[in-house]
Amino acid sequence: MSTFARIAGLGHHVPDRVVTNDDLAALMDTSDAWIRERTGIVERRFVEDGTTCTDLAEVASRAAMVNAGWEPGEVDFIIFATLSPDLYFPGNGAILQHQLGLGPVGALDVRNQCSGFVYALSAADAYIRMGMARKVLVVGAEVHSRGLVFSDSGRDTAVIFGDGAAAACVEAVGPESGSRILRHALHADGKYARELCILKPGSASAPYVSNDHIEAGLTAPYMNGREVFRHAVTKFPAVIQEVLEAEGLEAADVDFLVPHQANLRITEAVRQRMGLPEDRVASNISHYGNTTAASIPLAFSEAVAEGKVKRGDLVCLAAFGAGFTWGASLLRY
Ligand code: ACO
Repeated sequence: MSTFARIAGLGHHVPDRVVTNDDLAALMDTSDAWIRERTGIVERRFVEDGTTCTDLAEVASRAAMVNAGWEPGEVDFIIFATLSPDLYFPGNGAILQHQLGLGPVGALDVRNQCSGFVYALSAADAYIRMGMARKVLVVGAEVHSRGLVFSDSGRDTAVIFGDGAAAACVEAVGPESGSRILRHALHADGKYARELCILKPGSASAPYVSNDHIEAGLTAPYMNGREVFRHAVTKFPAVIQEVLEAEGLEAADVDFLVPHQANLRITEAVRQRMGLPEDRVASNISHYGNTTAASIPLAFSEAVAEGKVKRGDLVCLAAFGAGFTWGASLLRY
């Protein structure tokens, strides 16, 4: 009998500390008007001292498990997507396994930045379908605030990113289940790897990292904003179209679209291209900024909690980001 996977529950968690555009304008040459107009961001959340990326993920994971009706001991695999792990190695998956007090279940880290959650979900789906796991915790979490440069030199990225976490409980179901993941499409083009990246620490050149690197800003994100924008507005619609066509569906069939919250202008361009009304497209970037690997599950979890997505709805998750990597997942919630 075929096995499929479904999202049994979702949970999210953001830090309490709200940082407004005006708060950032006090630290660098920027303004609330510039940030709102170019990105749609009004405020974001930053962690307090002492809170780690895995700490945010732990709270989100516990909320997701309650939402799914899972006991923590039932989890048999963890997949953790982040670009801001607690340590350069080992990955956050293993740390989360320990913090949740789980047995020695497998833990995989995914380094696909803004596409991380879609890639992680596809891996969970595949593991479940092949019988390797039955209950997989899929997590996206970021603590960006400790890697940004809050001065004029870092203003192009410092105003965009925020901290947050979200998790999905993905479980095995039989072929009779109307709630199931349908398919994924995943892509990468490493020609653009250095258009959106953090160069150091890294082994491509010696030393791995130095004070000079820090002073030159190489440990902060670099983004060619125009290049990212140009690719994002074409690749989002193309990959959404790809998964829909493969299932014999069209844009109008999508009950709810959860695009990675990169930038409100990108989301709007994608929404208009697909001809979807605003109430069928997730948008929470105004409150949280771009939370990268957390952004899709965070927006999805909020939409479910607000009653915007119901069981059986056709939901499309879509991502584009560093690599460049991009992808989409189509599912019946
Ligand atoms: N505040 C004020 N001015 C700023 C800021 C800031 N925070 N950052 C840059 N500027 C200045 C620039 O220095 C430039 O000044 P200049 O004209 O004197 O050289 C001016 O604003 C305009 O800069 P542009 O880069 O031309 O601005 P643009 O209109 O392209 O907007 C933006 C920049 C918002 C980054 C845009 O390119 C964009 O939306 N790109 C998509 C990138 C994105 O969404 N990234 C999200 C993260 S990646 C991801 O999730 C996929």
